[in-house]
Amino acid sequence: MSSNSFGKLFTVTTFGESHGPAIGCVVDGCPPGLEIAPEDFAGDLARRATGNSRYTSQRHEADEVEILSGVYEGRTTGTPIALLIRNTDARSKDYDELAQTFRPGHADYTYWQKYGIRDPRGGGRASARETTMRVAAAVIAKKWLAEKSGVRVRGWLAQIGEIVPELPDTAAVDFGTVESNPFFWPVAAQVPQLEKYIDALRKDGDSVGARVNVIAAGVPPGWGEPVYGKLDAELASALMSINAVKGVEIGAGFASVAQRGSEHRDEITARGFLSNHAGGILGGISSGQDVRVSIALKPTSSILKPGRSVNLAGEEITMRSKGRHDPCVGIRATPIAEAMVALVLMDQALRHRAQCADVGEVRPRIG
Ligand SMILES: Cc1cc2nc3c(=O)[nH]c(=O)nc-3n(C[C@H](O)[C@H](O)[C@H](O)COP(=O)(O)O)c2cc1C
Repeated sequence: MSSNSFGKLFTVTTFGESHGPAIGCVVDGCPPGLEIAPEDFAGDLARRATGNSRYTSQRHEADEVEILSGVYEGRTTGTPIALLIRNTDARSKDYDELAQTFRPGHADYTYWQKYGIRDPRGGGRASARETTMRVAAAVIAKKWLAEKSGVRVRGWLAQIGEIVPELPDTAAVDFGTVESNPFFWPVAAQVPQLEKYIDALRKDGDSVGARVNVIAAGVPPGWGEPVYGKLDAELASALMSINAVKGVEIGAGFASVAQRGSEHRDEITARGFLSNHAGGILGGISSGQDVRVSIALKPTSSILKPGRSVNLAGEEITMRSKGRHDPCVGIRATPIAEAMVALVLMDQALRHRAQCADVGEVRPRIG
C-alpha cells in the first residue's frame, strides 16, 4: 500500500531513516537451506559505503548487519529474514537549517506536500542510506542466484559528467580493474583524471551526473512474465526506484531509435546470438544472453553553490546545502544498481520455478 515493499515471491520491505536509530529490512520468501552468515554482507556493504575515499560523503558508518530472524545454525529456514543495521555516525545538527527550507532538486518539498510532516535529518527516508538495505537484501539474492543458476550480476561506472571509459567495447570490461578503484571505473589509466575532475567539482561547490551499467551473466532463457510482469518492465521499475535515477536503458536502449531493424535484431545461429541489442530480453522473457541495463543518475542536489528556494513561510531565500554529501551520487551507485537487478532476477526466478518447473529444458537451446 505505502510502497515500502517490492517483489512477488521474494519480497523485500525496507524501513528506517538516515538519522534514525537504525535501518532494516525484512526479506520474505527466501527458499530454505541457503547458507547465510553476517560476514556475507560485509563485501557489498563496504562497496556501497560512504567514506571509502575522499570522492564520496565523509559519513563513516560501520554497517554491521544483525540477522534477527529467518536463519538457524547458519542456514535460511524459509521464514522472514529480518536484517538490522544501526546508524552510528549521524550528524543531525547539520540539518537544523534545512528543516526551515527545501533543497532545490531534492525530495524535501514533495515529502512536505505529500505528508505534511518530514524528517529533514540527512534527508530522512529519501536519503540513499535506505539503499543500504537493498544491497543487504540482494546479498541473499546474489548468493542464491549464483548457487542455483550460476548467475553473476556485476556493474561499473560507465560515465561521469562528460568523461567516458576509454574501452573498445563493453565486452572488454575487466571487473578486477573496476573493483580496484573507488570509482568502479573500468580503465585504471583514467582514474587520476577522475580524481582531478571530482576535486575541481568539490572546490566549485558543485556536483555532476553519471551512468552505471550492469550485466547479469548466466541468466537462463525463460525468466520474466508477460505481459504485466515483463523482466525488462520490472528491471526498469526497480532501477528507477533508486534515488536520483532519471533514466533506464535495456540493451541498446535509446540508441535503438537511430538503428535499422536489420542492425538491431540479434540474429540467431546454432552457436548463439550474433549481437545483443535486446539486452538479453525478448517479449519480456530472458533469452539466455547477458541481461544488460544502464542507468542515468542526476547530479547531487545538496551542493554548496548558492541556489534559490523558499522557506516554510513561503518567502524567497538563497540557500547552500550543508552536511556531508556525495559530489557525484553515481560513484557509489554501482552496488545499488547490481542489487536491484539481483532482487528482480531472484523474484522472477522463483516465479518461473513456480509456474514452469515442469516444462524442463526446451530444444533447440541456442548458444
Ligand atoms: C548512492 C547515492 C548517494 C546519494 N547521495 C546524496 C547526497 O549525498 N546528497 C544528496 O543531496 N543526494 C544524494 N543522493 C540523491 C538523493 O537521495 C535523491 O536525489 C533524493 O532522494 C531525491 O530523489 P530523486 O532524485 O530520485 O528525485 C544520493 C543517491 C544515491 C543513489
